[in-house]
Amino acid sequence: MKLDSHIGIVGLATMGQNLCLNLLDQGYRVAAWNLETQEAIRFAESQDNDSLHICEDLDELIQHLPVPRKIILLVRAGEPVDEVIAQCLGLLYQGDILIDAGNSHYGDSERRARELGEKGVEFVGLGVSGGSEGARRGPSLMFGGSDSAWQATKEILERTAAQSDYGPCLANFGKGGAGHFVKMIHNGIEYAEMQLLAEAYDLMNRGMGMSSAEQISAFERFNEGPLNSFLVELTARVLRSRQTRLDEIVDSAGQKGTGRWALEAGLDLGVPIPTIAASVDARAVSALLDRRLRLSQRISFDRDVSNAPSLEDIERALIFGKICAFVQGVDLIESAKEAHQWSLNIADIPKTWREGCILRGVLLDHWISEIEGTEPKSLIDVSYFWEELVRCDEAARIVLSDCMEARIPMPALTASLSWFDSITSGRLPQNLTQAQRDAFGAHGLYLWNDPDRLVHKEW
Ligand code: 6PG
Repeated sequence: MKLDSHIGIVGLATMGQNLCLNLLDQGYRVAAWNLETQEAIRFAESQDNDSLHICEDLDELIQHLPVPRKIILLVRAGEPVDEVIAQCLGLLYQGDILIDAGNSHYGDSERRARELGEKGVEFVGLGVSGGSEGARRGPSLMFGGSDSAWQATKEILERTAAQSDYGPCLANFGKGGAGHFVKMIHNGIEYAEMQLLAEAYDLMNRGMGMSSAEQISAFERFNEGPLNSFLVELTARVLRSRQTRLDEIVDSAGQKGTGRWALEAGLDLGVPIPTIAASVDARAVSALLDRRLRLSQRISFDRDVSNAPSLEDIERALIFGKICAFVQGVDLIESAKEAHQWSLNIADIPKTWREGCILRGVLLDHWISEIEGTEPKSLIDVSYFWEELVRCDEAARIVLSDCMEARIPMPALTASLSWFDSITSGRLPQNLTQAQRDAFGAHGLYLWNDPDRLVHKEW
């Protein structure tokens, strides 16, 4: 079916090409421009589709599209987005819509929405998850923008998005940077889930000496239970690769910034997200390769786990850490929603993440079914999440203590257990912290017998 709508795409790297093909499959006509014109021409030639028009420059792209124009930017986050916007500005009309589908910082999206809004141009910060494969087959889409931009683009986005039993994996999370904020937290949880899986792999591989066939079968088994998810399936897939063995890969992880931004947002809003923080730090520690190699010469341990935990315990430890990461991430979204007055509905998140994105998995089904008609303050109050934490608590401790003894680092699991122990503790030792602050800085403190009055004591 040919649709009347005509969409512009700026940026034809793999993501851009795949989104372009997805839109063409849906029956849209696409005008595209890429800085490297030759690459764009090669792409167009490989497609031979008369609904695809490659433009020589941005000017041609903008002139080619009917108004109000809808232009999707798939350029590198940061300055390149501002540069393209600056080039477009003089050429756009009132009501035209620029959709930034990159991993932009939500603060940049807030600013761009404000600046473009002053000129009558609509700006949408669109969080897109699922990588290049998702762009081709249907990504998860997290929309942030005005209601009018939502109305104008909803149908296109619904057709482009992944589909699940609950409908298209797309939601409007509010104005400005709301969509990119939800995407950033998605990525923070993604870092945590990946780190927890890396810890389980380390335990099985280095600690328990399991063969790679045994590791594959463990992850395949995990994928049949409550951990069923894209990332667990992917772990088994990469372990299965005949082309590359994991021990051939330099164990120093990269990061593009979304995980770090999530931590910064947590600090700004005073929301603790320690499982995510530990996972971002774990990548940073892994990147200190020279130092690790040097220090590992000075001290050596065999890292054998003498008391190997069962696979059921490892599975439960993974569930425990994963749930902690989800609870913390969603707490942060809840707090940002208040702070920015976003019209964001938390219940839309699991539906948007159910398919297409990196976090897709059965946990989202539990989240969806259990919050139907309720408004929990935090995910920790959703019975499935709480009951799973309680069920998996002991196993998580067994795994952690076995690993501690064998010196297998478990930063994400450690952070999860400490967070859980703190958050479920009616009393914490910060009475001492308060006394110290008051003693050296006269910062004042509250006494239980008069908890609303700030008092200073002599020490
Ligand atoms: C996704 C991914 C995707 C990408 C990130 C993370 O949802 O499709 O999160 O956005 O993998 O850029 O990259 P880093 O691991 O390099 O931070």
